[in-house]
Amino acid sequence: MPNEVPSEGLTIHTLPLGPWDNFVYLLADEASKTCAVVDPAWHAPSILQEAQRLNLEITHILCTHSHFDHVNRVEKLLETLDIPVHMLRPEIEFSGYRCENLVPSSPGDTLRVGKHVDVTMMHTPGHTPGSCSYRLRDAIVTGDTLFVDGCGRCDFVGGDPEQMHQTLQGLLDKLPGDTVMYPGHDYGPTASAPLAQQRGTNPYLQHKTVADFVAHRMQGKKPNTGLSSPPDWAPADS
Ligand SMILES: [Fe+2]
Repeated sequence: MPNEVPSEGLTIHTLPLGPWDNFVYLLADEASKTCAVVDPAWHAPSILQEAQRLNLEITHILCTHSHFDHVNRVEKLLETLDIPVHMLRPEIEFSGYRCENLVPSSPGDTLRVGKHVDVTMMHTPGHTPGSCSYRLRDAIVTGDTLFVDGCGRCDFVGGDPEQMHQTLQGLLDKLPGDTVMYPGHDYGPTASAPLAQQRGTNPYLQHKTVADFVAHRMQGKKPNTGLSSPPDWAPADS
């Protein structure tokens, strides 16, 4: 997958992984050759090899939320890396997620990757109560909040379509249109997209009322079902 360079000294490397079309990201500070990995899941060797291939040292793990398909290789990485794992406190409280080196974080917290790349944690609830989007310069990594031409489901345990509507409107209101959105899954026609483009093409950003959004998002779905706990199976790493 081609890499995109939102601004000087920062590179966002995209790694498609797993059976659910997840994207794992390496947010790299080119000056120090260090990076944060977002949502390490499905295959630890692929993540470690990609960092090695790019000559990057992984210094942080950033979790957008607690769902299994986003965190199922955190502990595997911690077997060889002694680095902090960031997740928003409301998500930890909601899910009971635990791992070594877990840093309960607050909305608005900023962490630095390497020497120059500041990453801010934005609370973007709706898919889960403590979902986090990571903002860095003119990019945002949105997990299961916003996809290219889609948005995260709100029918899982902890989901809230009204909150999701508020979250999405907040992102559009707060962030410049040239902000490039990097989603948690490869569900759209492109891997990433500018918010201004999404404002025009994403069907979930077109609704005039909260009620219209909720009806669309919840069509055919039952609230609070599924994904309340990790599946009782684990994929192999080889
Ligand atoms: Fe999810």
